[in-house]
This record gives sequence, structure tokens and C-alpha cells, in this order.
Amino acid sequence: MYRETVQSEKLYSRVARRYDEVFERAMLSEARLTQLARQTMDDRRVLDLACGNGRWLDRFSPESYVGLDLNARMLDEARRRHPRATFLRGDMTALPFPDASFDGVMSMFGAMGHLPPDGQRRMVDEIHRVLAPDGMAILTNGNMWSPFNLPTTLLGNRVRLEGVRFRVFSSNPSRLALLVDRFRVLRLESYDYSYIPILPLKFLSCLLGHDYRSGYERLMEILGFCRYIPRLRWFGKQLVAVCQKA
Ligand SMILES: C[S@@+](CC[C@H](N)C(=O)[O-])C[C@H]1O[C@@H](n2cnc3c(N)ncnc32)[C@H](O)[C@@H]1O
Repeated sequence: MYRETVQSEKLYSRVARRYDEVFERAMLSEARLTQLARQTMDDRRVLDLACGNGRWLDRFSPESYVGLDLNARMLDEARRRHPRATFLRGDMTALPFPDASFDGVMSMFGAMGHLPPDGQRRMVDEIHRVLAPDGMAILTNGNMWSPFNLPTTLLGNRVRLEGVRFRVFSSNPSRLALLVDRFRVLRLESYDYSYIPILPLKFLSCLLGHDYRSGYERLMEILGFCRYIPRLRWFGKQLVAVCQKA
């Protein structure tokens, strides 16, 4: 097991119960990712790799679904949220499934960033193996080209969150494209502009009696149009690659 995996276990055991609260801002910035998940994964047999608390199952309609994660507490939350779905404990670099078991594999919210480069390569090889021919994959990771990730990059990708120090292995568009070179890459985009603080909006919403979440989501959707502006194309904090098994 990688040292980074041990760090990630510590982090997610600590935040499992409060996960949606801790990462609220980023989650309100996922309209585009949700749209891609629906377009790509609806009606497929899907593996949600590093599924966390299973929250993606609220957002799309797979024909069948298996969530896999290493963290037992995150899986407890997932089972509580979706008692009838299948959640398994396992490592995303060594998947406990036969070849060609799924039509879709998704790995959301930069889970691969918890693995060093050789771990990411093993993970992608495993995704390729368990996908059926023409199967689809959605992979996400932090975006080093986003100016908003510059402080993390300058600190050697070391992060401290909820009192836990850990290292993340973000990508840039060329690196991610190289990582998935066994696939046909259908889309490579940046998303997530949640560097904008949410507190002022919470305050305003309190005064005006509006729901701050829908306001923030709308703001994030507007910023999402940066992906059509060449100079701002890679401003989003995260990258997403939509790929097909060639
Ligand atoms: C940022 S969270 C993403 C969770 C979920 N995909 C989401 O969108 O909210 C990262 C998840 O990766 C899981 N994880 C980290 N290393 C892992 C590994 N080697 N195998 C399986 N899961 C792992 C963690 O337990 C955590 O639930």
C-alpha cells in the first residue's frame, strides 16, 4: 500500500460523517460533471471507483451500479444513503472483478490524486481491464494548470485538511491525456471554480431568505462557460477526461 493511501485513509476516516459539509463548495460546482455523468453513464452497468459516500448515485441512472472504496467509514455512509446498492471495500489499483465486467467506470472528485504516478497508471490499467469493449470511463483529477491550484503546487502538492497532512498528485491536461492513451479520449475539460468563497452568499441569502446553494450553483454554472474561451479553458480546479475503451 502506498504511503499516500495511508494518509488518505486517515483523512476520510476523520471526515466521513461530515463529508458533504466539508466539500460543499466543490460539490456545488459539479453541474457540468453531472451532465457528463448522465450523458455517459445512464443505462450502463457502472463501477463507481473510489465512490466515497456513494453520493453520485443520487445524480444519474445506471442500469446497475457497484461502488468500491477503500475507506470503511465512507462505505458505512454510502450503505446508509443507499441501502439497496452494492458497495464493496477494495483498492482501486487492484480491482476484484473479472475482465470486461462493466460498461462504464467513473472516478469522481479527483480520487486518483491520492495515488502517486505509478499507482495512477495501475488504476487506469485496471479500469481498462474491467471495461467491456467500447466501454466508457470518466476520470477526474486536480488541475495543475489552474492558477487557483498554484499555492498547492508551490507547496510541493502538500495539503493540510481537517488536521491531516497529505500529498496530492494532480495532473495537467497533457499528463492526463498521456495517462489515458490506451483509450479514445472523447473530451478533456476543466471544471470547478469553487475558489470563490461561499460565506458572503450564505450571509446574503440569510438576509434575503433565499437558498444560497442554488445561487452558488448558478454562479458556478456561469463560470463554467470559461471552458469555451481559449485563454480561460484550463482555469477550472479539476480536470475531467471522458474516454472510450478502444
Ligand atoms: C475525494 S474522495 C472522492 C469520493 C467520491 N468519488 C466523490 O465524488 O465524492 C476520494 C475517495 O477515494 C478513496 N480512496 C483513496 N485511495 C483509495 C484506493 N487506493 N482505493 C480505493 N479508494 C481509495 C477515499 O477513501 C475517498 O473516499
